[in-house]
Amino acid sequence: MKKILITGGAGFIGSHVVRRFVNNYPDYQIVNLDKLTYAGNLANLKDIEDKPNYSFVKIDITDATAINELFKEGDFDAVIHLAAESHVDRSITDPTAFVMTNVIGTVNLLNAVREYWKGDYDKKRFYHVSTDEVYGALGETGMFTETTAYDPHSPYSASKASSDHFVRAYHDTYGLDCVISNCSNNYGSHHFPEKLIPLAINNIKNNKPVPVYGKGENVRDWLWVEDHARAIDVIFHQAKTGETYNIGGHNEWKNIDLIHLLCKIMDQKLGREEGESAKLITFVTDRAGHDLRYAIDSTKLQEKLNWVPSLQFEEGLEKTVEWYLTNEEWLSNVTSGNYQSYYEKQYNHK
Ligand code: NAD
Ligand code: TYD
Repeated sequence: MKKILITGGAGFIGSHVVRRFVNNYPDYQIVNLDKLTYAGNLANLKDIEDKPNYSFVKIDITDATAINELFKEGDFDAVIHLAAESHVDRSITDPTAFVMTNVIGTVNLLNAVREYWKGDYDKKRFYHVSTDEVYGALGETGMFTETTAYDPHSPYSASKASSDHFVRAYHDTYGLDCVISNCSNNYGSHHFPEKLIPLAINNIKNNKPVPVYGKGENVRDWLWVEDHARAIDVIFHQAKTGETYNIGGHNEWKNIDLIHLLCKIMDQKLGREEGESAKLITFVTDRAGHDLRYAIDSTKLQEKLNWVPSLQFEEGLEKTVEWYLTNEEWLSNVTSGNYQSYYEKQYNHK
């Protein structure tokens, strides 16, 4: 039996990874560690919270003492580390929070692993989930590969780059079995409505302006979140120690084109006249240091581990819109802040 600690499991991608592992591997014990920041929402895991192979522990990864105590008792076989501060705009306002969680928090986990897995490094695995933003920005052409030099620009990407370097350093220095994946922008259900796609869906639904930074010319490579979770599953089980994999959708969209497509889908779903939602598009001041273009070359993952994205973007975006429109309670709880009481209701007795 494998006992796996998944950090950040109450967040957007983490909840999809936890769900996948709990459902697909009934023999594994999945422990979800999360601080439940504004981005953590245990309601994301309502459907699996009573499964016998799932448990939750509320811990802040910047708290080294709490992490060490957990490892002392935990006897984990592996860690899949997703907990992070994840929003570029917030990192511009408050970089220190990103250094604390993304850098110090990751080092705290690595130190615990180093201490409590001593002598067993080759049997245990530390999987670090990272972003393509560590590679910096592309011009009109080219793609990020696993050998692209790191060149982060935002405080968020600088903190993720730093944590990637620490993970590699612990592999090279102490021989820990570490694996890293760097993924492009994800979209799908349970995405916090501060990021472009869920924010736009929520605003269009409520007839509020849809803010497009600058001229909307920036390009992102979008991947269905469940395809990311499947890639993590495949890499976790099959990658060789020390390896890095890029994960991406081969699905580049200029922000403004994406927003127009989203407006079209929303018009259809809400029974509005075509073009009505697009009237909400509002060009606003550009993000400072806004990376022009991201594009991932995931050939290594496709060829070595047979992973390919499963969904066309139009289909995935339509499914995403449908999810937000049918899960109004989730969305209103998140936008009102009510979701933060879910933990008290569900977990105070545990
Ligand atoms: P998210 O913000 O939705 O979730 C992050 C989770 O981490 C939340 O549940 C939060 O409560 C938890 N957390 C934050 N600080 C913590 C702390 N100090 N201790 C314990 N838990 C803490 O983020 P996401 O979009 O799901 O991203 C998950 C991971 O994937 C991150 O490491 C991110 O860098 C990476 N990633 C994200 C994307 C994307 O498009 N969202 C793409 C590539 C990689
Ligand atoms: P975001 O979802 O914040 O992800 P990231 O910055 O990690 O790529 O932003 C995606 C793109 O959308 C990015 O180019 C910034 C842009 N954007 C807007 O134009 N308006 C918005 O309100 C937001 C949140 C983002």
